[in-house]
Amino acid sequence: MSKPFYITTPIYYVNDKPHIGHAYTTILADVLARFHRNNGQETFFLTGLDEHGQKVQQAAEERGVEAQEHCDEMAPRFTELWEQLHISNDDFIRTTEERHKNVVRDILQQVMDKGDIYEAEYEGLYSVSEERFITEKEAESGDFRDIKKLKEKNYFFKMGKYQQKLIDHIDSNPKFIQPEHRKNEILGFLRKPLNDLCISRPKSRLNWGIELPFDSNYVTYVWFDALINYISSLGYGTDEASFKKWWPASYHLIGKDILTTHAVYWPTMLMSLGIELPQSIFAHGWWLMGESKMSKSLGNVINPMDLIDDYGVDPVRYYLMREMVLGQDSNFTMESFIQRYNSDLANDFGNLLSRVSTLMKKNYDGKIPEPGELTEAESTIKSHGESLGEIVNEKINAMRLNEAIEETMQYIRSVNKYMEDNAPWKLVKEDKVAAGRILYTAGEALRIGAVILSPVMPNRTEILLNALNAQGTGLTWGELTPGRELKDHEPLFPRKTQN
Ligand code: MSP
Repeated sequence: MSKPFYITTPIYYVNDKPHIGHAYTTILADVLARFHRNNGQETFFLTGLDEHGQKVQQAAEERGVEAQEHCDEMAPRFTELWEQLHISNDDFIRTTEERHKNVVRDILQQVMDKGDIYEAEYEGLYSVSEERFITEKEAESGDFRDIKKLKEKNYFFKMGKYQQKLIDHIDSNPKFIQPEHRKNEILGFLRKPLNDLCISRPKSRLNWGIELPFDSNYVTYVWFDALINYISSLGYGTDEASFKKWWPASYHLIGKDILTTHAVYWPTMLMSLGIELPQSIFAHGWWLMGESKMSKSLGNVINPMDLIDDYGVDPVRYYLMREMVLGQDSNFTMESFIQRYNSDLANDFGNLLSRVSTLMKKNYDGKIPEPGELTEAESTIKSHGESLGEIVNEKINAMRLNEAIEETMQYIRSVNKYMEDNAPWKLVKEDKVAAGRILYTAGEALRIGAVILSPVMPNRTEILLNALNAQGTGLTWGELTPGRELKDHEPLFPRKTQN
C-alpha cells in the first residue's frame, strides 16, 4: 500500500477578497488531490483561513464589529468560491477555531519547556504594514511602509540553533524544496547566519491573536500560529492515529512570496518539536496581468466569480492548469483565455464529442456501435490510449501539469485527425460496419481522454461520460459498451467571442 497523500494550500488571509491567485493554488491542490484519489490513493486535502493579526483587528475596528464577528462574516467569501469551483477539500481550518488554538498553545509550551524560547529586550525597526521587525537594509529598500523604531521585550524562538540541521536536510532531500531554483534561493539565504525569530507581540499593540500560555501579556506572532494549521487540522496531540496516518505532508503548495516562512520557519519549528518534516514544499509563480503584478491598487485584479459566470467553472480550471508552467510566472490575459477555450475546448474536445454522438444518433439508432476488427489506424489509437494514463501520471508526479494536459489534448487532436482521414460521415453510406468501428474507436478514445482529464474538469467530463453512457472510469481500452444508448447532452463548450 502506498503512503496516503496529504496536500495543503496556504491558509488565506480572511480579510482578502479571493482573487485568481488564491483560486489558482486551491484549484492546483484540488487537481492533484483528484488525480491521487482516482489512482486509488487515500488522500487528504486541506485548505483554510488565516484569521489573526493586526490587519484583521484594524479592519474589524474600522467596521465597528468584534474581530471574531468580522472573520465570521468574511469567511464565506472563500468557502462559497471553493464550492463554486468544485473544490473537493476534506477539511477547512480556521485559525480562530478552538481545535487549532489548543494545538498552538500546546506547541508553544512544548518549545518553551525544551528551552527553545527565551525572552529578550529588542530594539529595532518595525514595519507596521508587514507586522514584523525589519533590517536596516530592508528599511532602505523602500518596500516597507509605516516603519517605526521600537524597543520592547519579546519572546524569541531559537531558530538559529537549527540552521545547520536544516541545511543538511535540504542537501540530503533534493525534493524537499521545489522547484530547484527555489531550493537554491533558500540555501543562499542560509549561507548567512540565521537569526532567532521573534514570536510574540505585546497585547498593548495587538490583542487579536493566541495568548502565550506562559505570559498573558503577549499573543503569538501570526506566522507561528498560521503554520501550525498543517498539523492542528490532523489532530496533532489529540488524535494520534489521524496524525500518524497523514503526516508528513506530501506537498505544501505555496506561492513564491511565502517561501522563507515555509522552508525555514516551519521546518525549524518542527525540528524543535521532534516532528518529521514535510516531504515537499512546492512554490509556484505568480499570475501577472499582462506584464504587471495583480494588485488592488492597480485595479487589475481578476475576480474568479466573473469568469465562472461568463465561461463556466471547468474552462477556468482548465486554463489556469494548462497555461502555467509550475514554478514560473504566467500572464493572464482575456485574449489567451478565450483562445485556449476555443481552440482546445470548443474545437478539439467538444467538437469530437458532438461529431461522434451526432453520427451515432443518426446512423446507429442512437446506440454505441460494435468495435469490430481493428485495423492499423485503430490499433495505434488504442495503444496510445492505453499508455496515456501512465505518461500523464509520470508528468503529474514530476509536477508538470501543463504537459500532462497537453499530452492528453494531443491525443484528442490525433483522434480528430483520424476522423477527418476516415470520414465516417461519408463511409457510413457504403460500409456501416467500418464506419461503426471508426465511431466506436473515436468514442472510446474520447472516454479515456475524459477520464484522464476529469481531475481538471470534473463537471464537463462527467457530462461527456454520461452522454456516451460510459459506466467504466478505468483506463483499459474497451470499456465503452456497444449497444448502449447515448444520452442527450448540452453542448460541452459552446464557442465564445470576447465580450
Ligand atoms: N496567510 C498567509 C499564508 C499562511 S500559510 C500558513 C498568506 N495569505 S495570502 O492570502 O496573502 O496568500 C496566499 C497565497 O496566495 C500565497 O501563496 C500567494 O503566493 C498566493 N497569491 C497571491 N497572489 C497571487 C498571484 N497573483 N498569483 C499566484 N498566487 C498568488 O500569505
